[in-house]
Amino acid sequence: MSVHAANAETISAAAQILRGGGLVAFPTETVYGLGGDATNGKAVAAIFAAKGRPTFNPLIVHVADVAWMSDLAVTDTRFENLAAAFWPGPLTLVLPRSAACKASELVSAGLASIAVRMPDHPVAQKLLRATDRPLAAPSANPSGRVSPTRAAHVAEGLGDKVNMIIDGGACRVGLESTVVDLTTARATLLRPGVITAEEIEAVIGTVGTGADDPSAPKSPGQLASHYAPSVPVRLEAQAAQPGEALLGFGMSMGATLNLSAKGDLLEAAANLFAMLRELDNAARFKAIAVAPIPHAGIGLAINDRLQRAAAAKG
Ligand code: TXA
Ligand code: MG
Repeated sequence: MSVHAANAETISAAAQILRGGGLVAFPTETVYGLGGDATNGKAVAAIFAAKGRPTFNPLIVHVADVAWMSDLAVTDTRFENLAAAFWPGPLTLVLPRSAACKASELVSAGLASIAVRMPDHPVAQKLLRATDRPLAAPSANPSGRVSPTRAAHVAEGLGDKVNMIIDGGACRVGLESTVVDLTTARATLLRPGVITAEEIEAVIGTVGTGADDPSAPKSPGQLASHYAPSVPVRLEAQAAQPGEALLGFGMSMGATLNLSAKGDLLEAAANLFAMLRELDNAARFKAIAVAPIPHAGIGLAINDRLQRAAAAKG
C-alpha cells in the first residue's frame, strides 16, 4: 500500500489499477471510499473481503455522469428531479436494477435494487472519468468502524488491503451520504445525511422514514452498532466524568475537543469522525462523553451516527 497525493499522474495510475480489477481508496466530499470496478464481480468481492463486510450489505455505485445510469438502473421523474437538484452531491438514490444492468449482482447483495450516487469531489470525478467504469465504493473503513475522512485514516484501517490510496485532503462534508429509496411508490429515507429529509420533500413530496411503515424496505447496512470507536460513548453529556474525554458542541466548558465552538452543524458534521478517532484512545480516556447536539436538520444525521457509536458498547 502507498498513499499518493492526488494529481493527473496518480489518478491515471489509479484508473489503471481499477480497470485491472484492483482496489483504490479515494476521497469523496463525504468520506473516503474503497473503490473497485462495479462491473467486475471479482473486484466487488475483493471490496467485501478487504472490509470484512457481511455480503448481505449492498454497496453504493458511483457515477460521473447521469448518462451512466442507463447501464445500471430504471429511473423515473423523482430520480430526475432529485438528481437535477442534488447531484453531484451527498445523496444516494436506490432504484430498481435495469434488465441490462452492467453492475455485478454482488454490489446489490442479491437485492433487485441498486444504490447510486454522483460524488461532488474533483478527484472522485476525475477518477471515475479516467476509469470510465462505475465504481462500487463503500466507506473505506473495516466493517463496523468509524468512516475515514482523511487518507491517514484509510491507511490505519485498510492500509495493507488496498492497492493504492489517493490523498485528496480532509473530506468537506464528513458524514456519509443521505440514502433515499425510490423503489416504492412512497420514497423512504434509509440513512440521514447533510441533505435533509425536508430538502428532499421539497422536491418529491412526502418521504417516509421506514419507522412508520413495517413493510418499507430497510437499509441492510443500518445495523445499530455501525460507527463504533473502541471506547464507550456517552451521549447528551453536560460534563465529563473523571477519566472521560468531553466532545463539545457550542459553549461546552472544559471540552477536550469541540465539534463546533460556534454551534455550526455543518462544521460539526465535518469534524465528527476525525474527532471521535482522536479521542478513541483507551490509554488516555476510559470513555467519550458527547455534549447535546440539536435533534433537527443536519443534527439528525449527526445524532444518528452518535447513537450507533454509543449503541456498540450498549
Ligand atoms: O457517502 C457515502 O455514501 C460513502 C462514500 C464513499 O460515497 N459511501 C458509503 O458506503 O457510505 P457504505 O457502503 O458505507 O454505505 C452504503 C449504505 C449502506 O447502509 C447500505 O446498506 C446502503 O447504503 N445500500 C446500498 N445499496 C442498497 C440497496 N440496494 N438497498 C438499500 N440500501 C442500500
Ligand atoms: Mg460505511
